[in-house]
Amino acid sequence: MCGIVGYTGKGDVIDVILKGLTNLEYRGYDSAGIALRDENKIKIYKALGKLINLKNELETNKSEIKNPTSGIGHIRWATHGNPSVINAHPHTCTCGKLAVVHNGIIENYKELREILISKGCKFKSQTDTEVIAHLIADEYANTKNLEAAVRNAVKKLQGAYAICLIHEDEPDIIVGARKHAPMLVGVGEGENFIASDTTALIEYTKRAIYLEDNEIAVISKDKIKITDIEGIEQVKKIEVLPWEPVALSKLGYKHYMLKEINEQPDVIRNVLNGKISDIQNPVILNEVSLNKDILKNLNKIQIIACGTSLHAAMAGKFLMEEFAGISVEVEASSEYIYKRTTTDSSTLVIGVSQSGETADTITAIKQAKSKNAHILIITNRPDSNMARLADSLIPLNAGIEVSVAATKSYIAQLISFYLLAIHLAEIKDSLPKSYLQNLKHEMIQLPSKIESILSDTSVIQACARKYSSYKNFIYIARGINLATALEGALKLKEISYINATGYPAGELKHGPIAMLDETMPVLSILIPGGITYEKVLSNCEEAKARNAKLIALTSSEDENINNIFDDVIKLPKVSEILSPVLACVPLQLLSYYIAEFLGKDVDQPRNLAKSVTVE
Ligand code: F6R
Repeated sequence: MCGIVGYTGKGDVIDVILKGLTNLEYRGYDSAGIALRDENKIKIYKALGKLINLKNELETNKSEIKNPTSGIGHIRWATHGNPSVINAHPHTCTCGKLAVVHNGIIENYKELREILISKGCKFKSQTDTEVIAHLIADEYANTKNLEAAVRNAVKKLQGAYAICLIHEDEPDIIVGARKHAPMLVGVGEGENFIASDTTALIEYTKRAIYLEDNEIAVISKDKIKITDIEGIEQVKKIEVLPWEPVALSKLGYKHYMLKEINEQPDVIRNVLNGKISDIQNPVILNEVSLNKDILKNLNKIQIIACGTSLHAAMAGKFLMEEFAGISVEVEASSEYIYKRTTTDSSTLVIGVSQSGETADTITAIKQAKSKNAHILIITNRPDSNMARLADSLIPLNAGIEVSVAATKSYIAQLISFYLLAIHLAEIKDSLPKSYLQNLKHEMIQLPSKIESILSDTSVIQACARKYSSYKNFIYIARGINLATALEGALKLKEISYINATGYPAGELKHGPIAMLDETMPVLSILIPGGITYEKVLSNCEEAKARNAKLIALTSSEDENINNIFDDVIKLPKVSEILSPVLACVPLQLLSYYIAEFLGKDVDQPRNLAKSVTVE
């Protein structure tokens, strides 16, 4: 959500900042801007909409840009003030000598604004960020030192911020500061960087220093100084970033989403790697320090997550209750925060997040931590803020996910929950060994089954074409596939903007059936051999009797199924318990192709951002 890049050094300042912003664009894309220090002046360029518009703006004005030596850039996902050129970052103070970009929300911005207006500051935008520019300029008037001015100013800010700024009178230094929003310093040779995420740095350096809350970084092209809020210099470790530039390439696919869907067999292989060495032996989950003694005292598990990760959590609840007989609660992070929870020191709290930066989940996890719960984080970003809160950490190893709609991270989360549930069952001895062996055997075969789904998508594409003009969908399932239905419907909503609802199949008759007619397709997930199959089939018959169009996602070999359903998307043979791992793939593809046919911006759907760092 929003992206920041700051750069000073020997390279082409505009090029470095634009490339960094391009790699962050999936985080926010309603407007963009850049401030350059050029001929000892601060020059600011902004544009509404995607980064390409900023690139065009810079091209139009290139004759006035001479030789910038440092600069800061931003891509925005609007919180305060609509997307517009005026509200786009960077923001300046009244004299225009200072430029600042910001991620996060300043909660006390109204009070600060009033105070600053009374001191004569002239505001131009509706953003909370502009107060930061005026506040630092106000402090600078007293201190004549940018680092000290930032330190004094941030002490007055309430809320979350990662800020990056330059000042006309402080040649070639960039100052960054953070609290409850990610920020890191990229370490180069003859050049240094500040960014909100490692992906901005990936093409330039593999060395980075992560800032902690309340730390302030001052960088020049050959110096980095990091201090705490009182100005005491901090000794920081330089970390080596794990990513290669190729992680951000589309590898010939039209969209990142399609690439990431196709990566899923290898993602599963990665997650399983080293965890199931021999199906006769227990799974190896060294990351989770839960032994028999801790488990004996554990009276419940709570899982906290948002969006797609919340759906993975729902499947995780089903698995842990089914395999280990432990009571599991699942809560949307934003709900967990504002209620009296029963979390205590005998609770295992699992935070699930692709990005590891989702503000709702971070706040909820901090709350759980303050109640002494054991915190297990399942994330694709072991370098994230959420990961730093963990007592135990399961990294997803899915590789960078660029498309805003989560796909491969979901499948990695699912597999992680299978492993965790099996691990708990093995510690508790709650399932027959033969059952667990069969399960592990089948899990190892999942990647090749997904490869067979991906090798021929013609039926899914035909369905997408046929149904792309429908305005409403219901996805139904029971048991463990309720999570799959919810996730399938979310994928369709997100990237095609079609109204899609996931519903427990048995609940259809308790209300939603009233909406059914020939304009409302019902997509159902049916896995023969499973305990819910016959019941879901009956629910489909009820829908058919109301003239709804029926789409089946099924592994059934029964010819009769073609007589009941208008369209059948076939899955490879699979047990009901493992079927969510296969069933999510055609649903991702169906959403993808529908959005494609409708000409939607698949990778960057409107109003969304990849990592939601505001509550
Ligand atoms: C859905 C999607 C969002 C995220 C949600 C949580 O495709 O991407 O619903 O799942 O914002 O994000 P993380 O998992 O990063 O905490």
